[in-house]
Amino acid sequence: MITFALSKGRIFDETLPLLAAAGIVPSEDPERSRKLIIGTSRPDVRIVLVRATDVPTYVQHGGADLGVVGRDTLIEHGGQGLVQPLDLQIARCRMSVAVRSDFDYAAAVRRGSRLAVATKYTSCAREHFAAKGVHVDLIKLYGSMELAPLTGLADAIVDLVSTGNTLKANHLVEVEQILSISARLVVNRAALRLQHARLRSLIEQLEVAVQQRTQAAEPLRATLPAAP
Ligand code: PRP
Repeated sequence: MITFALSKGRIFDETLPLLAAAGIVPSEDPERSRKLIIGTSRPDVRIVLVRATDVPTYVQHGGADLGVVGRDTLIEHGGQGLVQPLDLQIARCRMSVAVRSDFDYAAAVRRGSRLAVATKYTSCAREHFAAKGVHVDLIKLYGSMELAPLTGLADAIVDLVSTGNTLKANHLVEVEQILSISARLVVNRAALRLQHARLRSLIEQLEVAVQQRTQAAEPLRATLPAAP
């Protein structure tokens, strides 16, 4: 049996077509069911539904053989015990620094001010600001980071940005992009040895599905005007 860890929401929705191309269709819609283990059209594959931040932990410790996780979550986890064979190129966004639109970030950095930075992504943020030589006090939050600069809790946030609508709605502006993010396939190192043939063939099927999806998107990109 192959156990696949997925989180509900964007990752689940965008992984579905890739799984379908590998002949794997979940037998239930997780949004309509309270079940945490879902069978699939392949009798040897089941899906376990876990929180996004728990996917690497499940796969690392063998609670699942493989899973799909955002690069942001993977970096924060550290990636121990995980093989990362594939960038699935789904759930794309970026990790950025944002501040209130009336906060002069460049001047604060120039002055060498100590910045209070609120984020869920403390490892990424620590590394980013250390590389820039900016002194920061990191404040760990678990969600709604946008609120921190608005309430005076922090000068800046490090958060994921996709459309930019959440920042805009809260009068925040993106001042630096730190990382480009997409979802990665992660595999338990021991499982890859023990179930080599089955897992290898599944990884290859997913790889083909990713390539086909990218190729299908190419002609569309070619018709779009070039970015400034
Ligand atoms: C993410 C992120 C931002 C928002 C950005 O939150 O933390 O709040 O999406 O998207 P946008 O640029 O398209 O507006 P998510 O909804 O994933 O929930 P979270 O607060 O639990 O991270």
